[in-house]
Amino acid sequence: MCGIVGYVGPRDAVPLLVDGLKRLEYRGYDSAGLAVMEKGRLEIRKCVGRLAALEEKLAREPLSGAMGIGHTRWATHGEPSEINSHPHTDSTGRLAVVHNGIIENFEKLRAELEKKGHRFRSETDTEVIPHLIEQELREGAADLAEAIRRALGKARGAYALGILSLDDPETMYAARLGSPLIVGVGDGEQFIASDVPAILNQTRRVIYLEDGELAILRAGGVQVMRLDGTPVEPEVREVRFQPEAAERAGFETFMRKEIHEQPRVLRALLARHVNDSDEVNLADIGWSDEDWRPVRRIVIVSCGTAYYAGLYGRLIIEALTGTPVEVELGSEFRYRDAKLAPDILVVSVSQSGETADTLASIRLARRAGCRVLSICNTQGSSLARESDGLFYTEAGPEIGVASTKAYTAQLMAFALIAIYLGRLQGELTAEQEAGLVRDLRAVPDAIHYVLSREDEIRTVAGKHCDGPSALYLGRKFNYPTALEGALKNKEISYQHAEGYAAGEMKHGPIALINEYLPVVCICTRTRDEVYEKMISNMKEVEARHGRIIAVANDGDETVARLAGDMLVVPAVRDEFSPMVNVVALQLLAYFAAQARGTDIDKPRNLAKSVTVE
Ligand code: AGP
Repeated sequence: MCGIVGYVGPRDAVPLLVDGLKRLEYRGYDSAGLAVMEKGRLEIRKCVGRLAALEEKLAREPLSGAMGIGHTRWATHGEPSEINSHPHTDSTGRLAVVHNGIIENFEKLRAELEKKGHRFRSETDTEVIPHLIEQELREGAADLAEAIRRALGKARGAYALGILSLDDPETMYAARLGSPLIVGVGDGEQFIASDVPAILNQTRRVIYLEDGELAILRAGGVQVMRLDGTPVEPEVREVRFQPEAAERAGFETFMRKEIHEQPRVLRALLARHVNDSDEVNLADIGWSDEDWRPVRRIVIVSCGTAYYAGLYGRLIIEALTGTPVEVELGSEFRYRDAKLAPDILVVSVSQSGETADTLASIRLARRAGCRVLSICNTQGSSLARESDGLFYTEAGPEIGVASTKAYTAQLMAFALIAIYLGRLQGELTAEQEAGLVRDLRAVPDAIHYVLSREDEIRTVAGKHCDGPSALYLGRKFNYPTALEGALKNKEISYQHAEGYAAGEMKHGPIALINEYLPVVCICTRTRDEVYEKMISNMKEVEARHGRIIAVANDGDETVARLAGDMLVVPAVRDEFSPMVNVVALQLLAYFAAQARGTDIDKPRNLAKSVTVE
């Protein structure tokens, strides 16, 4: 979704803004723009397309100045066009605004403002904000801060805003409600940004603005207040990850780098949560055993890939504990009349911690008296701050739009939580726990082995990436893997792909099978009772001449006889095989996308963090 960057300080703002916006490109966008305070004038440059187009424009029509705001827009209201791009201005052109979010009552506000003589240029919801501020100034607001506060009091919806005005030429304003926004605290200079990676090469000292806060930034310092004017003492936090974590480290894309980081990420989680006696320790969450005991039911809420992690969470928790689990899409959960009670633990899962539907779901759950535990990858995110407990996945910044390392870290989190709860409830003996932990420790090396066979996966991807569609089948623990594999393929290679529970094949998708359809069958074997069932499904595909691509264990002759192609993965315990098997599917999608020449890190139409409904 839209990206915001802002700067005030002694340096030229323009290169800093462009650099920051580049670091936010992963969020997804279709146009970009800047507003800079230049020698008593407010200058704006914007255009449709990639940042390269904006840079070309800046080369033709240069800009410089010590304060500015920049924006990458992901269109919601109005097509991607120059006029709809941000920054937007008031009628006088003295005030400029960049916005991420949606002003839900913009039509009503716009009609009221039009009656008062305001003329709008764009189709966006955002444009009402500068006009509202202008109107508040006309109607007697004492200063810009008061005008902004009064204007925002009238806006409904979600926003992160950066605001500049010639009426206060050395001050940048920033406000948030529901959309992420941080302040970067520098030495004699200040930044705002949608996300930490945008400014990490400038400062690691960050203020995470809370909903309903307004920040007033001057080169020398930052002042924060609530929208009602109450001053707030902001907490400046040191960001833990290093700037290099947000670099590509020699890989051609962030996604490839992030796929390769998975063994390290999972090893780090194990090191943090498992002791030398092979016991799981979740002390980091900050809950005592007594906090876990009243839990009678678990409801997992999340979206997209994180939803598939939730499906795995249900399987592993129900396999190892006595607690029933439901899994819900945030976008559905928030609108259905879920019967919630205080003995239900709501577990939300999110890489970004800013997904609008997931956030709305936990707010609803907390209002109903439920405890909320979040499995989240982003320190300081809204989800992290609004939850009762946080399992921090610590995968480091995930820049590729398609989630990879955050997903396997979420699966690992669920496996650890399940083992911990199982032991606490007496469902697992200490010996069983130790056995599970030992098997879990085998996972990072197994992933490493999959990564070492990248070239074979590339060859398989090259053979099957041309067709219009592909089917992904899995069962039990690997049903979510099938869904996630298909999603990866759709997202980055744009080849239509359907993930299905293999047992459902006969209920419909079997009609699709012919000699052109790649059917990815996840059929790894240790002691899983669904192995034989998968073999039967593969025989059914073979009988209809489908092209079977099997994810299977080395040396599995039964599968090898059925499959046209094999993605070989090491055998690990069934319960943990999704963490290994999905890596083969991430790579399959990756190489298909590469062969099809797509923009892998920034696939069309997608946003990394879906901060609006
Ligand atoms: C993953 O590849 C997707 N881009 C998307 O489905 C994502 O998982 C979803 O939007 C949820 O995001 P979150 O984990 O940040 O909440």
